[in-house]
Amino acid sequence: MILVLLGPPGAGKGTQGEILAERLGIPKIATGDVLRAALRDGTEQGLAAKAYMDRGDLVPDAVILGIMKDVLLSPAAEKGAILDGVVRTVPQAEGLTIMLAELGRKVDRFLLFDVPEEELMQRLGGRVVCQGCQTPYKGLEPGTRCEKCGETLVRRKDDEPEAIRNRLKVYEAQTAPVVEWAKEKKMNLHKIDATGELNEITERAMKAIEEHTK
Ligand code: AP5
Repeated sequence: MILVLLGPPGAGKGTQGEILAERLGIPKIATGDVLRAALRDGTEQGLAAKAYMDRGDLVPDAVILGIMKDVLLSPAAEKGAILDGVVRTVPQAEGLTIMLAELGRKVDRFLLFDVPEEELMQRLGGRVVCQGCQTPYKGLEPGTRCEKCGETLVRRKDDEPEAIRNRLKVYEAQTAPVVEWAKEKKMNLHKIDATGELNEITERAMKAIEEHTK
């Protein structure tokens, strides 16, 4: 099963993606995590992406589609994958669709996480993430140790107020059109209320997935 998680920054794609990956037994792959890991490793790809990411702008489509190709051809994605934050422009959505068709596969479900903007600002303003495994936390100070892998928690540069505002604008301008694209193409798109307790949101997502697979 290939699931694509859509939604603005802070909507909980990463948080729910981890939980759903465990429930469904398929890996979660986040382009943001791949790019941050490349940056930490000092690769050419990571260094080229840094300025875009720090400002909260999108990394060029060609870079993202290159990452996606590697991911989809990897043995880890054989049974399927949860793609977190991957399709952020219409050209990326089209590119992914073509790539999957060439492999005899398709996106089974687009899940759109819906959260009001005020709550997004609050969530991102209070977030710290593990610099190792990327797990997000709220209400903890930078420098605290990650309870999953023991690495240090840090504040993301793009979680500064100005970058958050830019990311929300970029989402409206470049990613919201993907939702219209998916509707026009009659993709299996399901909007989920992504506010409230984590387990409630997971159940809403599971319901959308199970309805589709019946
Ligand atoms: P990326 O890392 O994907 O960032 P994002 O989309 O902005 O998403 P976030 O990670 O900020 O939020 P999320 O929805 O995962 O929420 P989370 O679960 O952390 O991308 C970063 C950058 O990389 C981009 O800006 C771009 O430059 C580049 N990039 C990546 N992919 C790209 C692409 N395809 N094309 C071009 N460029 C690309 O939750 C947020 C917080 O809320 C956490 O603290 C969490 O604990 C908390 N929280 C979660 N759920 C709840 C809840 N129900 N109630 C209360 N708090 C909650």
